Amino acid sequence: MSLLEIKDLHVRVEEREILHGLSLTVNKGEVHAIMGPNGSGKSTLSHVIAGKPGYDVTGGEILLNGEDVLAMAPDERAAKGVFLAFQYPVEIPGVATMTFLRTALNAQRKARGESEYSTPDFLKKVREVAGRLNIPQDMLRRGVNVGFSGGEKKRNEVLQMALFEPSLCILDEMDSGLDIDALRIAADGVNALRSRDRGMIVITHYQRLLNYIVPDVVHVMSKGKVVKSGGKELALELEASGYAQFEDAAA
Ligand SMILES: Nc1ncnc2c1ncn2[C@@H]1O[C@H](COP(=O)(O)OP(=O)(O)OP(=O)(O)O)[C@@H](O)[C@H]1O
Ligand SMILES: [Mg+2]
Repeated sequence: MSLLEIKDLHVRVEEREILHGLSLTVNKGEVHAIMGPNGSGKSTLSHVIAGKPGYDVTGGEILLNGEDVLAMAPDERAAKGVFLAFQYPVEIPGVATMTFLRTALNAQRKARGESEYSTPDFLKKVREVAGRLNIPQDMLRRGVNVGFSGGEKKRNEVLQMALFEPSLCILDEMDSGLDIDALRIAADGVNALRSRDRGMIVITHYQRLLNYIVPDVVHVMSKGKVVKSGGKELALELEASGYAQFEDAAA
């Protein structure tokens, strides 16, 4: 059975159809890249999988390990292992990053019938992962993403992903705003999470990220659907030729 199976998905936002019959299958152990022009619906797809409100699914289905994702509340999806690293991470003033991480992680563990982390075990784990990602301890005491630079926000997303150990990771433009060193560190963090039990979807505009996180499959999205899929060489091809060739395929 596939980890994620999306069949003929139609999604509307405020009466306008944004996804027009999108299909995508991700198996356990695979890393898929999604590329495509601005406004083609990449972030919309990631939001719909994670359950962000405001999207109206008018057709099709999304299955995670054969289960109907669209019937689940967003927190249920998270507990089932869906993780989305946002293109624009939200700030949560007044909630320390450390407290947020611990509360979210324990809520997920509880929903899965697993034991909650004790304070010392949790601190040890966070320190270890944050250290690997070059995230300073004082950042963890600050409000979630409050005053974080663009790159710090992205690294914080990778930290969350490493702690939550999701079965499906969706990274929406993780590379935007990262300097070269941070990109390598974040990509190493993501690569460390590659496993045969996990699938990943990496949304990016730049082939460069895919030198660090080498995908098994590359998809091109245009106008609300997947118009071409191929191996990692497809990303190089796109870099050379652009998206114009796919406009007709999507129409
Ligand atoms: N809340 C909303 N209200 C109205 N239109 C929306 C909303 N969210 C998305 N859209 C529209 O849906 C289309 C797809 O947007 P989306 O953010 O999914 O594109 P994208 O492929 O992620 O683009 P980018 O590469 O620029 O991040 C755009 O035309 C956008 O304006
Ligand atoms: Mg986007």
